[in-house]
Amino acid sequence: MSAKRGDKARAGGRLRFVVTAGPTREYVDPVRFLSNPSTGKMGFAVARAAAGRGHDVTLIAGPVALKTPRGVRRIDVVSARDMMDAARGATAGGDAVFVATAAVADWRPVECAARKLKKSEMKPVLRLVRNPDVLKSVSARVKVGFAAETGDPVCEAARKCREKGLAFVVANDVTEEGAGFAADTNRVVFVMRDGTRRDLPKMPKISVARRIVRACEDLCA
Ligand code: CTP
Repeated sequence: MSAKRGDKARAGGRLRFVVTAGPTREYVDPVRFLSNPSTGKMGFAVARAAAGRGHDVTLIAGPVALKTPRGVRRIDVVSARDMMDAARGATAGGDAVFVATAAVADWRPVECAARKLKKSEMKPVLRLVRNPDVLKSVSARVKVGFAAETGDPVCEAARKCREKGLAFVVANDVTEEGAGFAADTNRVVFVMRDGTRRDLPKMPKISVARRIVRACEDLCA
C-alpha cells in the first residue's frame, strides 16, 4: 500500500513506530554466545505493516536473516544492552508507539573473554547477570508487548501488561502448531490493559501485524 492510500485510511494521523525484532546474542567469548531461535519474522511484519500505513518506522533488529521492509529505518544490534540503547534513542521524546516483539535474552555472561577460550580454560558453570528489560525501560505513548508462552498465555500476558505498563499484550502459545518462532502464521490473543481479550483466528503473521498496527492507531485516535 502506498503512503498516500495509507494516509486516507488510518485513524490518529502519521505515527512514529519503533519496533524491536529478533533475538539478542550475549557473548561468552568471540565465538560463543547465549541466544534463542527467534527469526524476527513477527517484528519485520509489524514494521512492514506500519510502513504500509504511511507511518514513520524504526526497526531495531537483533541478528536475523531478513530483508529490511521498504520505507523502514533499520538499526542492527547484537546484545540486549545494545537493543536498549537503540530503543531509548529511537523513542526519545516519549511520543512513539513502541512494539516489542524481540526475544531478548534475559541473562548475559558476567564477562565476555577478549579471545577464544580453550575448553580446558572453561568452567562447567557459567556465571550470569540479568539483562535490562528493554520494554520496561522505554517511555512511549503506546507500548505493546508479546508473550510467547508454553502453557496458558493469557494469564501471563495480563501480568506482563500490568508490570510493564502496556496498552496490550499479544499472547500466543508457541507449542501450538503454526504458531511458533519460525512459522509464517500465528494464532494470538490481544490481552488489553483493562483485562478484556480479543481472540484472533490463526492467520499469516503479516495479517496479525496489520491488526496490531490498527489497534495502535485506534489507541492514538
Ligand atoms: N522484553 C524486553 N526486554 C527484556 C525481556 C523482554 O523488551 N529483557 C519484552 C519482549 O520483547 C516482549 C515482552 O517484554 O514484548 C515479554 O517478554 P518475555 O520474554 O515473554 O517476558 P519476560 O519479561 O522475560 O518474563 P518471563 O521470563 O517471566 O516470562
